[in-house]
Amino acid sequence: MRSSMKTRTLGKTGPTVSALGLGAMGMSDFYGPADREESIATLNAALDEGITLIDTGDFYGSGHNEILVGEVLRGRRREDVVVSVKFGALRDPQGNFTGVDLRPVAIRNFLAYSLKRLNTDHIDVYRPARMPPGTDIEEVMRTLADLVKAGYIRHIGLSEAGADTIRRAHATHPIVDLQIEYSLISRGIESEILPTCRELGIGITAYGVLSRGLLSGHWARDRRLAPTDFRSRSPRFSRENLDRNLDLVDALRTVADAKGATVAQTAIAWVLSRGEDIVPLIGARTRERLDEALGALGVELSAGDVEAIERAVPADGAVGDRYPEAQMAHLDSER
Ligand SMILES: NC(=O)c1ccc[n+]([C@@H]2O[C@H](COP(=O)([O-])OP(=O)(O)OC[C@H]3O[C@@H](n4cnc5c(N)ncnc54)[C@H](OP(=O)(O)O)[C@@H]3O)[C@@H](O)[C@H]2O)c1
Repeated sequence: MRSSMKTRTLGKTGPTVSALGLGAMGMSDFYGPADREESIATLNAALDEGITLIDTGDFYGSGHNEILVGEVLRGRRREDVVVSVKFGALRDPQGNFTGVDLRPVAIRNFLAYSLKRLNTDHIDVYRPARMPPGTDIEEVMRTLADLVKAGYIRHIGLSEAGADTIRRAHATHPIVDLQIEYSLISRGIESEILPTCRELGIGITAYGVLSRGLLSGHWARDRRLAPTDFRSRSPRFSRENLDRNLDLVDALRTVADAKGATVAQTAIAWVLSRGEDIVPLIGARTRERLDEALGALGVELSAGDVEAIERAVPADGAVGDRYPEAQMAHLDSER
């Protein structure tokens, strides 16, 4: 295990986890084909290196992702891993997203299947992935609170929630963390959502820290994407916007080079430096990428470094929204 593994605590009442979490999504979905053996090796390597937080969703690969994580959990002491699961999204057999179901009976059904796929009797942090307009968040929270009481879930989290929903949910049952996109080029949470979480003592598990690979330093300008790849529809990767966004990455590379770090490490280190209440979720799908990401833990940023990074990649520097228009409309955090 890396002796340098640092820890952070999720919210006032949540578990203490490694300062970096691993998101398993790309091992089953959204980013093109992934290698099963390498995915399992990456999950195991992450745990061996001291990562204790693994994030998944029951709809990632329509259950495939939980089965992968479950396979890895089988060989581990359950109490050594904090498993975070998103639920609520519905898919058809072709993988199309067909809606969100947050009825109490649906939540109990989702949970029953997740527990089986994950080979476990409890989930550490359970959270609705999306909350469509009109969601009765108090009812969702009461259902989840019953599941906490019954011992099936340990903690409740949220995903892409706005300040009002966060307050309403937290007033019904403590929320330990909000999972939300946060990176050098997705800084929307800084105005209202992050201050609200800080006021209430709710942690942040940040995703999209590398903006889905765009900020990784490995993105080739001429990379071809399968139509099923999320990024083939993402405005930030569109033909009109990609070149300008990659110019920001070139500017970041100059700062990273001066620090003796890679672009990805610098982007992750910047998120880590935003506060002890923030845990970046990294989307590594291979041991090589994982190793690079873990290196971010050793990158100390001075105030001058942060200034240089933010000069290279200004808060509003990127062009294009972080999701396609139709999906932006589903984000409670953007309402
Ligand atoms: N709550 C939500 O709505 C939500 C939404 C999306 C994701 N998430 C969670 O967040 C996790 C992270 O996913 P993300 O898309 O946000 O991840 P990300 O870190 O922004 O991007 C991951 C992609 O970056 C590329 N990459 C290049 N160098 C890397 C490195 N050193 N380390 C890691 N990745 C590198 C990888 O592509 P290659 O493998 O091709 O190099 C990978 O597919 C997901 O697994 C999921 O658990 C949550």
